[in-house]
Amino acid sequence: MTEPLLTELLDLGLEAARRAGALLRDGRPDDLAVAKTKSSPIDVVTEMDIAAEKLITGFLAEHRPQDGFLGEEGASSPGTSGVRWVIDPLDGTVNYLYGLPTWAVSIAAERDGETVVGVVEAPMRGETYRAVLGGGAFVGERRLAARPSPELDQALVGTGFGYVQSRRAHQADVAQRVIPRVRDIRRGGSAAIDLCDVAAGRLDAYYERGLNPWDLAAGALIAREAGALTGGRPGEPESGELTLAASPGVFAPLQELLEELGAWHD
Ligand code: IPD
Ligand code: CA
Ligand code: CA
Repeated sequence: MTEPLLTELLDLGLEAARRAGALLRDGRPDDLAVAKTKSSPIDVVTEMDIAAEKLITGFLAEHRPQDGFLGEEGASSPGTSGVRWVIDPLDGTVNYLYGLPTWAVSIAAERDGETVVGVVEAPMRGETYRAVLGGGAFVGERRLAARPSPELDQALVGTGFGYVQSRRAHQADVAQRVIPRVRDIRRGGSAAIDLCDVAAGRLDAYYERGLNPWDLAAGALIAREAGALTGGRPGEPESGELTLAASPGVFAPLQELLEELGAWHD
């Protein structure tokens, strides 16, 4: 049976994600513009990223005032309860800006530093992915299961690119050398959805360098609870250096290839 605390965190995460997803879907202005840029001129933030984070942190703080927060748009407080919420209020901002459907709200809850709950709300797919540590991963009533592993040369592999030009150049170089070794690659534009796609068997694997905790916390738990393996460089957990999620038989050969190609450096 799931611990009452984890059930409470899951229910709150689901409701916060549902509300933020509805705000983003229904409240997107037709003339949506870039509000500011961050690490580079193509790393954009819209007023809706900011409004969604405010909604999520306001809702969660109202119900659990002692919890900490780490949010992409600035929420940062340690809290005193041992629980911290890790939030990407809008993952896939560039897709959202252009009216493409692949974007999501990603909310994870950590207890004593370990991710125990993950919710990824993808409103334009009409899907909410969720997982509780040790309890499996679900979309609606359906239990998620990573795809049976093909050989690496038959694997469909998702990836992504950061916003800083020098990093992108190296990432493109790595991707160019991955393509002839796999079935094909996909660049969906939302790391959280890519990780859920591995969980749902829609991708055999996904890798990216340069993710932040809010991009990956919820999706990586969902992928693991669906039976995928997650990690970084050999022997390391997933991190900003490298994040890799894959069905079990694809994980080691892809990790080895990425190591050989230096996918973990710029
Ligand atoms: C980005 C998306 C994208 C990934 C980038 C992320 P954002 O998040 O997840 O797919 O390639 O590395 O930064 O900026 O849309 O929240
Ligand atoms: Ca993100
Ligand atoms: Ca974001």
